[in-house]
Amino acid sequence: MALMVLTLIPIGLVMAERAEANIWGELTNTLYAWHKAIGFTVLLLMVVRIAMKMRMTAPAYPDALPRSLQIAAKALHHSIYLLLVLVPLFGWAGVTAFPALITLGGYELPAMPFIPENSELAAQLFGIHGTLAIILALLLIGHMAAAFRHMFKKDGIFKRMV
Ligand code: HEM
Repeated sequence: MALMVLTLIPIGLVMAERAEANIWGELTNTLYAWHKAIGFTVLLLMVVRIAMKMRMTAPAYPDALPRSLQIAAKALHHSIYLLLVLVPLFGWAGVTAFPALITLGGYELPAMPFIPENSELAAQLFGIHGTLAIILALLLIGHMAAAFRHMFKKDGIFKRMV
């Protein structure tokens, strides 16, 4: 999922820039098709992930980790979970409103229920999608930096993650 999300962000930025510059063609369409297919897969995997998370308990934090850092880590993880649901939901809502549901191999994504076809609404939904995706990218950078820091500190946190 990390690989998928880290691929989606640059693809999203490049394709949106090409659309803004009115550069249409095979490459732009392919980027959009892959972005929508991978993004929708992330949404489906999040459903599985949340179901698994509710059934399984994570190992406890090592006692040596200060309480404030444990709270910060939990807050960061919950925010990442929330955004990994909201970002693809807003993308899906946007392509439903536009409508631009076509994806890889000419297959169409299902339309999101209760979202009308409306280009102004689509623009607003894409705006929220893009902003939340950038916030997600920043949180992921923080998350990865913390993971690497703990890997080098060998304080048991990285082992807990694995
Ligand atoms: C975790 C999942 C996702 C991430 C991290 C992500 C990330 C991004 C990013 C960074 C952009 C560029 C925003 C901008 O520059 O304005 C973007 C644009 C876009 N995304 Fe996603 N996306 C995800 C899922 C989806 C899904 C599921 C769909 C649709 C099924 C989708 C459809 C789009 C579309 C159509 C745009 C272009 C919007 C425009 O042209 O203004 N995305 N996405």
